[in-house]
Parts: sequence; structure tokens; C-alpha cells
Amino acid sequence: MQIQIENQPFASIAADALVTYVFDQDQKIEGVLSEMDQATDGHLAALAASGELTGKTLENVLVHFPAGINAKRLLLVGAGKPGKFTVSDLRKIAGTALRYLKSRGVKKFVFLAREGERGPADLQAVVEGLVVADFESDKYRTEKKPNREIQSVSLAGFDANQDGMPQALENGRVIGESQNFARELINEPSNYLTPRMLAERAEAMAKEVGLGVEILDERKISELKMGALIAVAQGSIEPPRVIVLRYTPENLRPDSPVLGLVGKAVTFDTGGISIKPADNMEKMKYDMGGGATMLGAMRAIAYLKPSVPVIAVVPAAENMPGGRAQKPGDVQVAMSGKTIEVINTDAEGRMVLADGVFYARNLGCTHLIDAATLTGAIQVALANVHVGAFGTPREYLDHFLLSAKAAGEKMWPMPMDDEYREMIKSNIADIRNTGSGKGGGAITGAWFIKEFAEDTPWIHLDIAATCWVDDGKPWLAKGPTGVAIRSIVDFAMKL
Ligand code: BES
Ligand code: ZN
Ligand code: ZN
Repeated sequence: MQIQIENQPFASIAADALVTYVFDQDQKIEGVLSEMDQATDGHLAALAASGELTGKTLENVLVHFPAGINAKRLLLVGAGKPGKFTVSDLRKIAGTALRYLKSRGVKKFVFLAREGERGPADLQAVVEGLVVADFESDKYRTEKKPNREIQSVSLAGFDANQDGMPQALENGRVIGESQNFARELINEPSNYLTPRMLAERAEAMAKEVGLGVEILDERKISELKMGALIAVAQGSIEPPRVIVLRYTPENLRPDSPVLGLVGKAVTFDTGGISIKPADNMEKMKYDMGGGATMLGAMRAIAYLKPSVPVIAVVPAAENMPGGRAQKPGDVQVAMSGKTIEVINTDAEGRMVLADGVFYARNLGCTHLIDAATLTGAIQVALANVHVGAFGTPREYLDHFLLSAKAAGEKMWPMPMDDEYREMIKSNIADIRNTGSGKGGGAITGAWFIKEFAEDTPWIHLDIAATCWVDDGKPWLAKGPTGVAIRSIVDFAMKL
């Protein structure tokens, strides 16, 4: 899909469709809309007066062969109340328009930004929205859907000569494509994405975009004594891997912070001996979503070149029952030397992260972010709406939440009070891998990881409920979302 800025007046651009958006504000037709109304000889005002054009959020009105406009269709997307409008809504509008038009066989369209949304941040959001909305996977279908492809989108209303515009377009494309890179991985069935295959895919991507890459195999992992990762992997015939990607800025300052991105990549989570019920178990192929998130973020970072070095550490394993599998009650020794009483083998994500986080610190990371499909409990707490965001110290988390806000990703701060730490005390080892007592499952999971981050500034993103959507949204296909990548990249750029 080509995306370019177009400087011609919108009415004269030839395309399959022209798209813009209308606010829910009592039929007020102003700015670009009034130009459009004039061009179409009062059609817009008539539509608004008829009650068909309401401007309600993401409500689409399609006009065929609009008089006075060179495009074959005019699509008006509802933008909701103007007072509540944000750049995040603009992103969704662009995505909604693309999916709506794509399903109707449109190949080329023009997206016209209105007078209030013509800065670089708006442009970047529109491009992100378009690229992310264009993603669909029918890799494993032998009968492909009919040739529905958006070939080109022209962005009108923007001033191509304004400072930062070409860069904003490029950033939007890179970030959107990196989100799609992660989504493609998350979609893969576990028989096509074992830890070894994930490592190969990460290595190929790293070489393509110029990142340093090292893959730790089972021998190296056992030399390093990553006992928690090994414990999870030992039930599977598939050996574990640790993927390490490095981005180094050109003018590296010796006192620079080093950002570590650690992602849970359980390529399939059966639960192990504490086996999961069969219903919905197929979805546990997406239990590598945190790892894919970090790989996607690194891909974007390779292009956008922040001024701080970034290291990704992605521990990958398959969690299986079997004759060699770990059992409830077993005690494991993590790389840090801490001992873990395994109460439930299905609480495996925190174990692979224990060694991942500790290893990242050993590599010199001074600041950490981890992402993981860690707990079902986060869905109880926040439904499929917000990512659960944990972190210490609190100021570090607050900083990150600013990036989440800028990136238009909903994240909610979760408590880390000491009372929750008490719940992972073990009777026989240093810690246990599930909380004792009732409730707080997402928080005790976070505390477990913090035991290995210790005092290093650390953020934990529980994406179990947001990494995958069962129902598509007007701006997003069903399946993997690629959530958190935009926030992490924004944060790296500002660190
Ligand atoms: N991978 C799951 C968490 C999960 C659940 C991800 C639903 C996506 C959707 C994780 O490994 C897990 O099984 N967690 C357990 C922890 C419990 C045993 C303490 C859970 O949430 O039930
Ligand atoms: Zn599990
Ligand atoms: Zn899991």
C-alpha cells in the first residue's frame, strides 16, 4: 500500500473514494466541510438536515458519484463530539475508513484531514491507523479471498512542506508495520512457531533492519543456569531459546541509560501438568505475545534510532505436560540464585521472565520494561480495555504512562503494595509462583517478576486481555492487536 501526501485541492483528485470525518455537533457545516458542501451543491447540508449524517462516533455515510467531486465515492466517518476528540480518534477514523472501503473493493482513496488535524502528530496517527487497519492474514487458507487490496492512499489537507511532515509519514509507516510484524508472529499456530522458529524469525528481522542479534540455545541456557526457564521448557521436546537483540545508537554516551525490553514468549501454553481446560486452549498460541511485542518494538527502534541503547531479551519456551515436565511442588533455582516453589505449572510466564529480566540486568540494562500475556486475572480487573501497567518506582511508571497516552494506548496503573508481596512467600523456598490467598492474581504475578528486577526501574505490562481481540473492531481485524508497541517505542524515543 502506497501512502503519500497530496497537495491538489480535494475536489479535483481522481480516486475511488474521498474520505473525511464529521463531528456530532448539531449539523454544523464549517471549514473543509463547507467547501465540500459548496462543491457538492449543498449535498452535505441536505444529508445533515435529513438526519442521516449525524457525526456519531465511527458511523459511516457513503455517497456514490458525488456531484462536484472527482472521486467516485464520498465517505463521511462520524467523529463524535468535538470536545472529546483526540488524535487517537483520528487514528481509528483512518483505520475504519480503510477497512470499510477495502471490503467494498476500493483500490485508491484520498483521506482528507480537517482544519484542526493537520500537524505531524496527526499525520503520523493517520498513517499508523491505515497501516494497522490494512493487516489481515489468510496465510493458511488455500482459497484466498478475492483480490481486495488498497493500493494507494493519498493524504490531503496536510502541508508536505511543513517541518517534520515527511518524517511523520515515515514514522507512522514504520510503527504500523512493526505492529503488523508482531501481529503476524502472534497469529502463527504453535506448530509453525516453536521457540526455535521464533528465534529464526527474530534473527532474520534483525539482519534485515540492522540490529545486533544473538540466539542462546539450550546449551548456552543451561551454562548460564537459567533454571526457571529450563523448568518451564523441560516438559517439551522443543528446546528453549533466548533471543537477544541489540540496538546501539551512533553517538553512544558512556553514562547513557540502557533500556531493556523483556517479553514472554511461551509459544504454546498448555498449562503443563497443571493442565488447562480444553475450551479455548487453542488461543494459547498467542502466549508469545509479549515476546512478539518486544520484537516489533525493536524493529521500529532500529528505524527510528532513539539516542539510548536498547536490548531486547525474549525467553522462548513451550509449556507442555510430559514425562519430563516439572510438577507442582517442585523447587527450581532461577539464574539469580533465588529458589522458586512451583505451586502451579501454569504460572510459567513469570518463571521465564524471572530469568529474562535477570539476564537483561546482567547485560547492563539500567531500565526495564517487560510485556507478557501473564494472567487471566488482568481480564477480571480491567476487561479487554486497559493494559495492566505495574512498575517501580512509581515515577518511572508515571513516565511510561505519559508515553501510553501519547501513543493512544489505554493502560491503567496497578498497585504494588507490600501486602501483595507477602502472598508469594513460600514455606520451603524463597518465593512461590502463585499467590496464596484469594484475589490479586495479576498483582502477585507482577511481584514475582519484581523479585528479579529488584531495584532496577521496572515496568510490567500485563497484556493477556488486550493482545488479542475476539471480535474485530471497525478499525482493526479480529485477532492480535499489537498493543503496547507504540507506547514502548514512544518511551524509548523520549528516554
Ligand atoms: N498464559 C496464561 C495467561 C493467559 C490467560 C493469557 C488467558 C491469555 C489469556 C498464564 O500462563 C496463566 O496460565 N496464568 C495463570 C496463573 C495462575 C495459575 C496463577 C492464570 O492466569 O490463570
Ligand atoms: Zn500458564
Ligand atoms: Zn502463559
